[in-house]
Amino acid sequence: MGNRLEEKVAVVTGSTKGIGRGIAVMLAQEGARVVVSGRDLHAGHEVAQEIRDTGGEAVFIQTDVTKEDNCERLIHTAANNYGSVDILVNNAGIFPRGDILETTEELWDEVMSVNLKGAFFCSKHAISIMKAQGKGSIINIGSGHGYGGGSNLFAYSVSKGGLLTMTKSLAKAYARDGIRVNWIIVGWVITPGEIAVREAEGHDEEWLKQQGKRNPFGRLQTPEDIAHVVVFLSSDEASQISGAEIPVSGGWVK
Ligand SMILES: NC(=O)c1ccc[n+]([C@@H]2O[C@H](COP(=O)([O-])OP(=O)(O)OC[C@H]3O[C@@H](n4cnc5c(N)ncnc54)[C@H](O)[C@@H]3O)[C@@H](O)[C@H]2O)c1
Repeated sequence: MGNRLEEKVAVVTGSTKGIGRGIAVMLAQEGARVVVSGRDLHAGHEVAQEIRDTGGEAVFIQTDVTKEDNCERLIHTAANNYGSVDILVNNAGIFPRGDILETTEELWDEVMSVNLKGAFFCSKHAISIMKAQGKGSIINIGSGHGYGGGSNLFAYSVSKGGLLTMTKSLAKAYARDGIRVNWIIVGWVITPGEIAVREAEGHDEEWLKQQGKRNPFGRLQTPEDIAHVVVFLSSDEASQISGAEIPVSGGWVK
């Protein structure tokens, strides 16, 4: 256990599995009190228990980020339980395939609701608390698709582009309130979500790992690769960093 985040309270959306889970675990290992959140009650309690079993502090609050009342409850319960909200990681995300012709209104709305509206709701309620505290760090989990798009990830790419704009806009608006807002450009990470998408395309996990060898650093990334940078951006070591676009993309240069 480290102590770089001692006394800090962190909320991580979509932390029942994948990158979010890895982030929640590592924030706790650095001494943060962590609020694990997501829709899956069983998996969420398991992650929080795993953190407590290894000496950390965590609770799980069931949250669907597409609903504002859920996000408001998440942030306010975290503040009431632990006394502050110092770190918010907007990680919850979905990445269904489809070009514009394949994108129905329903798919568009679903992707925007989780990836963009969820981050808006959670940031809005966190900022109301962080402003009163005079400090806070928001970290948005982004993607290279937020810049160049992706032919078969149309809605996803637009949602991540919006999240980048949200990052810049909030970083500018709340610097004087001591609130930092940053964006991590994630590359290609092996997660349950990524495996499920590839399986739906007819590929197994082994195929995915083989494809990962094409990455400049020769392997797929892990949730921990991302979590290390989230810890840094959450910590006081990053106190002069806001509005930054940090590539943690396994050597891909955009
Ligand atoms: N895996 C990659 O290669 C990759 C690359 C770039 C960016 N990302 C981004 O990283 C983030 C995490 O992706 P992952 O690969 O870990 O995916 P994952 O599917 O393994 O995990 C996603 C998490 O988000 C949660 N979630 C989905 N809808 C939700 C909702 N309505 N409310 C609350 N939680 C919800 C899921 O339950 C899960 O906990 C996403 O924002 C994704 O866009 C991933």
